[in-house]
Amino acid sequence: MMNYKNEVVRKFADLFSKKPDVYFSPGRINLIGEHIDYNDGYVMPGAINKGVWFAFALNNTDQLNFHAFDLRENLSVPINSLKKTGGWKNYVLGVVNEFVKDGKEIKGFDCVFGGDIPKGAGVSSSAAVEGGLAMVINNVMNFGYDRKHLALICQRAEHDFPGVNCGIMDQYANLFGKKEHVLILDCKAITHEYLPFYFPEYNIILVNSNVHHSLADSAYNQRRRECDEGLKILKQNTGVNSFRAVESDEQLRAVKNQMDETVYRRCLFVVQEILRTKKAAQFLRNRDLESFGKLMFQTHEGLSNLYEVSCEELDFLVNFSAGFEGVAGARLMGGGFGGCTINLVEKKSQEEFMQQIGEVYKQRFGIDANCYEVALADGVHSCDTN
Ligand code: GLA
Repeated sequence: MMNYKNEVVRKFADLFSKKPDVYFSPGRINLIGEHIDYNDGYVMPGAINKGVWFAFALNNTDQLNFHAFDLRENLSVPINSLKKTGGWKNYVLGVVNEFVKDGKEIKGFDCVFGGDIPKGAGVSSSAAVEGGLAMVINNVMNFGYDRKHLALICQRAEHDFPGVNCGIMDQYANLFGKKEHVLILDCKAITHEYLPFYFPEYNIILVNSNVHHSLADSAYNQRRRECDEGLKILKQNTGVNSFRAVESDEQLRAVKNQMDETVYRRCLFVVQEILRTKKAAQFLRNRDLESFGKLMFQTHEGLSNLYEVSCEELDFLVNFSAGFEGVAGARLMGGGFGGCTINLVEKKSQEEFMQQIGEVYKQRFGIDANCYEVALADGVHSCDTN
C-alpha cells in the first residue's frame, strides 16, 4: 500500500529541493445530525484516520506554489493576485485569501498536498484541504490563531471561493477531532464536548456509492434558503427564534398552513433531527449502541423523504444494511446526492457485509462500491519528517 506521507514528502523534495514542515489533516465522519449545522442544531462528527498530508516551506519570493499530488496538477500565483478559479484551486486560494482579508501578511511558500481520502464522497476532503493549509500557514507564519478561529476562516473560505454555503461541522471536526471520540458540536454556540465512541465489537464502515450527482452544490444552497424561509415564518408566527427551540412536530404543525409544502417538509426534518441528535447523545452516554443505531436509520428516512437529499443508490445501500444482521445503524452521510453511507458493523460479520454489499450493488447498478473501515482520529497535527 502506498505510504502517502512519504510520497508527498518525496515529491516536495523533487520539486523544491528543501526540507518541508509536514502536517496531517483528516477527513471526517458524522454519526448523526445531518444538515443541521447551518440550522443551529447539534451534530456528532469526528475526524478519521484518512486524510491529506501537507509538505510546506517558505520560499522567500512573492509566489505561492502548489502541487496537488493526486491530480498531478500545479498552481503558481503571486500573493497579490488571488482570484477565484475552479476545482481544488478555489479551496487553497480561498484559505489564503481569508488570512489576507484578516490583514495578515502572507509570505511566499511552496506546498505539496495529497492523501488517501476519497473525493466527493461525503467525508469532506474539502475541509481536510482547507484545515491543513490554514493550520500550517498559521503555525509557520506565527499568526497565533486558535483552532476555532481557523475553522471559521476555512468555513468563510468555502463560502467565498468555491461558493458552497456550508455550515461549520466539517471544518470544526477536521480541527478538533480526537482519537476514539466523537464531538457533540453545538453549532449555535460553536462549542463542543467530547464523547468516547469505542465499541470493541463494532467497526465504522463507509460504503462509497461512487456516484456524485451533479446537483449536490446547488441543491445544498437551496436547502439552506428553504430552511431560512421556514425559520422566518416560524419566528413571525410563534415566539420561537431558532429551530432548536421547537420541542415537537405539533409545534411546527401549528404554522404548517403558512408554509409552502416543501419548506414545511424541510423544517419538519430539521426539527426532528435536532431532537434525534440530542436523544442519540443520551444513548451514547448510556453506551446503548442498539438504540443509537435505530436513530441513524430514522435519520436516513428523513433525509430521503423529507429533506430529499438521498438518491436511489444511497437508499439501496442503506436498505441492504437495514436487512443485514450485524449492522446496528446506517445512513447516508454528509451533503447527500451520492458519496458514502456510514455503517456500524459488528466486526465478526464485517467481511461478509463488505463482500455482499459490493456484490448486490454491482448487480443492481453496475458500479463498484468501495468499503472503508475508518477509525476516529485526532484533528490536524504536525508529523515527524524522519
Ligand atoms: C456538508 C457541509 C456541512 C454539513 C453537511 C450536511 O458536508 O459542508 O456543513 O451541512 O454537508 O450535514
